[in-house]
Amino acid sequence: MMEWLLVVLAYLAGSVSSAIIVCKMMGLADPRENGSGNPGATNVMRIGGKKAAAITLAGDALKGLLPVLIAKALEVDSPVLSAVAFAAFIGHLYPIFFGFKGGKGVATSFGVTLGVAWLLGAAVSGTWFLVYKIGKISSLSALVAAALTPFYTWLIVRDPYLTATFTLISAILLWRHKSNIQRLLAGQES
Ligand code: G3P
Repeated sequence: MMEWLLVVLAYLAGSVSSAIIVCKMMGLADPRENGSGNPGATNVMRIGGKKAAAITLAGDALKGLLPVLIAKALEVDSPVLSAVAFAAFIGHLYPIFFGFKGGKGVATSFGVTLGVAWLLGAAVSGTWFLVYKIGKISSLSALVAAALTPFYTWLIVRDPYLTATFTLISAILLWRHKSNIQRLLAGQES
């Protein structure tokens, strides 16, 4: 019973779209209707600059991090921890509070990796920053970090449920970036 409650709460936490809320509170344009149309930190950066983007990033990462940390504190087993991590991620993509139209899940998936193991979060974010330093393209950094996350999970956490879950999360994340991939291949990504 408690396990199901944790999963549902993680989904509800994931459904809180920081980008939409931050833009509304700061009097900025709706990220769903401007820039790339994606309610995420990168698009908030385009619309409202660094401060708004940083708050969005922190909010979206926290809503992944906190449910996982709470589940760990309650000493759930790894299938339940995996379900909690997945639920927070899916909440961001399909938010119940915003017509099930959410973002791509980069910051939230970073939050859940950090909650599962700080070293895993460090490896994922380190990869993102390294690729960004070289290419200066947010989506490309996210794609490379996501592609490597299942390997990092296996190397660092060594748990089959969590590795399978992060493989699924990465696959969905890559799929959500299909328009970015098309723009990258055409040399038109911003
Ligand atoms: O966090 C999403 C990022 O990888 C791409 O965002 O707005 O460029 O589609 P965007």
